[in-house]
Amino acid sequence: MDLGLKSKKALVFGASSGLGMASAKSLAAEGADIFLIARDEKKLKDVRDEIEKNYSVPCDYACFDMTQVVDVNNFVNIFMSKSFDILVNNTGGPPPSNSLNTTYDGWEKYINSIILNTIRVTNTLVTSMKKKNWGRILTITSSGVIQPIDNLLISNTLRPAITGYMKTLSNEVSQYGITVNTIMPGRIMTNRTLQVNQSRADKMGITYDEAINRSSSEIPIKRYGKSEEFGDVVCFLASEKASYITGSNLRVDGGLIRNI
Ligand SMILES: NC(=O)c1ccc[n+]([C@@H]2O[C@H](COP(=O)([O-])OP(=O)(O)OC[C@H]3O[C@@H](n4cnc5c(N)ncnc54)[C@H](OP(=O)(O)O)[C@@H]3O)[C@@H](O)[C@H]2O)c1
Repeated sequence: MDLGLKSKKALVFGASSGLGMASAKSLAAEGADIFLIARDEKKLKDVRDEIEKNYSVPCDYACFDMTQVVDVNNFVNIFMSKSFDILVNNTGGPPPSNSLNTTYDGWEKYINSIILNTIRVTNTLVTSMKKKNWGRILTITSSGVIQPIDNLLISNTLRPAITGYMKTLSNEVSQYGITVNTIMPGRIMTNRTLQVNQSRADKMGITYDEAINRSSSEIPIKRYGKSEEFGDVVCFLASEKASYITGSNLRVDGGLIRNI
């Protein structure tokens, strides 16, 4: 199947590792030009080199910290005049906390990145998508949107808000050929899940492998997802072939979310 992605221009956030990197690679494998964004220049450069070498597509990168208003102001100034076909929104995940120990600073940082700055980034690119009558806006969230995850209060609170925003946006822009969808990872193996499981293992006095086994046993498919399995879904939703999917909130979770 030709996904119609050759030479489409994709801007991918959180692209130096994990789900963002996998999404960028999958889009590159289908011939899209890639622009990577994250904070760590060394990691971005490595991903850029790998993409150019393996997929022979143009790939560039820039460093912005999504929690910092000044960085997002700079992003808006630079990218306002540029045109992209595909936007993959993806921010760093909030640390564990609960209703009693979440600090004001913790809230502010992630309200900035997950909500306010994601909205600003999206609005910056929507104008040129509208002019072209084509666009794909994808936002990586979490299974916690549907089934809140213990001890991830900030994520559980803010991700439904950005989901509501994206759903409303989809109502407004789908008539211009722009689809807007959110994607909920369940448990996909990345640096973040590796660290989360290591810290769970340390707390419980068990090995890392035991922590993974216990966590996997709760997933109907009985294993963690691979980042490529997630990236390929992003790639399909970004494609010409997904032109009638908009306003959806899709699970990539091996059945982890238990409701229908
Ligand atoms: N993996 C899962 O199973 C899972 C499940 C539910 C939800 N999620 C969510 O999905 C998102 C991606 O997760 P992941 O597993 O791919 O995590 P990851 O491997 O830690 O990757 C996070 C990416 O975001 C970038 N990033 C982090 N903070 C940033 C900031 N302030 N500004 C700009 N870029 C930033 C990181 O690069 P730099 O450090 O270079 O900036 C990295 O490229 C997170 O929000 C996570 O909470 C993941």
